[in-house]
Amino acid sequence: MMLTRVVGKGRTEAMDLADLDARLDAFVKCAVDVGTGDARFAYHLATERPDWLVIGLDALEAPMGEIAYRASRKPARGGRENLLLLRAAIEALPAELAQIADEVDVLLPWGALLEGIVRARSEIVQGIAALAREGAVVNLTLNGEIWLDSTPARYEDLPVPTPAYVAESIEPEFRRAGIELGPARYLTADEAKGLPTTWARRLGHGRLHPRFVHMNGVRRGP
Ligand SMILES: C[S@@+](CC[C@H](N)C(=O)[O-])C[C@H]1O[C@@H](n2cnc3c(N)ncnc32)[C@H](O)[C@@H]1O
Repeated sequence: MMLTRVVGKGRTEAMDLADLDARLDAFVKCAVDVGTGDARFAYHLATERPDWLVIGLDALEAPMGEIAYRASRKPARGGRENLLLLRAAIEALPAELAQIADEVDVLLPWGALLEGIVRARSEIVQGIAALAREGAVVNLTLNGEIWLDSTPARYEDLPVPTPAYVAESIEPEFRRAGIELGPARYLTADEAKGLPTTWARRLGHGRLHPRFVHMNGVRRGP
């Protein structure tokens, strides 16, 4: 299977395993931001960690276009050689991406990714686990309140992921998939406001303390 790389607005390219392997070899570690949206967080990570390959992954390519274009420019113009943006759904993860990540981040997901985590659907949880190599860190941050006041119809029945709900209903499925999650906690107001992602900014707008539920995990060995 070929990978689909987003290289600009409305522009994608096929990418093969040899190309991916060459990039992995050029950097010491790899982080994957799942449901990267406009890739702002992935771009931030790539800037903070120039010796890491940072992959932003999303089922939709359009929102990644602008940052894909910026990343392709010269470094002085915002280019980031260590940022790779790929279009793929986590439940249909291309085999090339299996166990490539030393860190997997999922920030404020929406759609199938959110439902899959909150309802602990095995195809979504296993997709996240499949990315992570043994010992990899897994960071999950969920919005813990939005559907209390402005619930889109399809989320009406979606449980609110409180720390207690995570422990009871989400953690066991991650454990089955090979990821040991620590206890979930609410981010402090400063932590929530400081998350460098577009959705953290949107969801935090007008709120003194956005209720973001955070958990850390580690990928077990076989
Ligand atoms: C609310 S946006 C958050 C984007 C970004 N993490 C942020 O914090 O700004 C959620 C993203 O998850 C993506 N997503 C939803 N279901 C997905 C799936 N099954 N696989 C990969 N990405 C998915 C959506 O396309 C969307 O871009």
